[in-house]
Amino acid sequence: MGMRSVLVRVPASTANLGPGFDCLGMALSLYTWIEMKPADKATVIRLHGEGLEGIPLDKSNLIYKTAQLVFQETGTDLPELEIDMYSDIPLTRGLGSSASAIVGALTAASELTGGGLDRDALLQIASRLEGHPDNVGASLFGGIVAAAWDGTRADCLRIEPPAGLAALVAIPRFQLSTEKARHALPEQLALSDAVHNIGRSSLLVAALAGGRLDMIRHAMKDKLHQPYRAALIPGMAEVLEGASDHGALGAALSGAGPTLLALIENGSPRMRELEAFLLSTLSAAGVDADLLLLQPDPAGAVVLEGADPALPFAERIKGEVHS
Ligand code: HSE
Repeated sequence: MGMRSVLVRVPASTANLGPGFDCLGMALSLYTWIEMKPADKATVIRLHGEGLEGIPLDKSNLIYKTAQLVFQETGTDLPELEIDMYSDIPLTRGLGSSASAIVGALTAASELTGGGLDRDALLQIASRLEGHPDNVGASLFGGIVAAAWDGTRADCLRIEPPAGLAALVAIPRFQLSTEKARHALPEQLALSDAVHNIGRSSLLVAALAGGRLDMIRHAMKDKLHQPYRAALIPGMAEVLEGASDHGALGAALSGAGPTLLALIENGSPRMRELEAFLLSTLSAAGVDADLLLLQPDPAGAVVLEGADPALPFAERIKGEVHS
């Protein structure tokens, strides 16, 4: 077993992409870094950066607990860990921050055991923890993922993102818990709505896999979750309705929200128009939001080799952070 320290970088993710509720995801170029090593004495957890107040620093910490699941499965005895974490992914906004923490913890812990679990095994643990594989699949494999989960096993295939695809995200300055956003959903759906979503979701996968960016606007439509969640995010309905008329290839609620995602081609001459549309529409609904232009992340979770272990954690990831 290697006793070195392991540094991993994990991308944010956007789940659902509109019609693919709990089944489609895309990794985005906004990151969490986790460094993990066996502790000499007691467990120490250090969180770097802003907005991480309230996250436990004892053994109830999600990263610590998730790492221990890997150690259990591999028969490794590492009860005391030193963990450093920095994240550019805002919490509780629908950009997969908890999924990135889970995937980072699993990847780092597996690497500490000398690569004890492969990525499929990590996907199974991550899906069990999250309850669906869309965010965790994207953070783990990168690119775009189509995934299915039956409560026991997750099956996930990665699609290479089409060249030139970018994601303009509008991040409202309020938090929305996934629990609250799931609570807004009905228990049952009309068969016609289910058929609507199967059609759009299938079309979206085919459009993304085949580079048919022109079809995204027809495919990125949903009757399964977005209409029920719209009441929780003022301005959302207007954004989803109008984004394609202002330069977007398509638009969706990012995961359980409140972030809104508009796909657009890199270098589009209508970028400024789309930015203005998103901000003014949300502002008219009383919502302040921050825009970020992100790229699909192709790599997923990666172990960063070569950073000088003598440098402090903040120095080792410097130059890579977004803000
Ligand atoms: N697919 C999930 C949802 C993502 O929309 O609720 C958030 O975990």
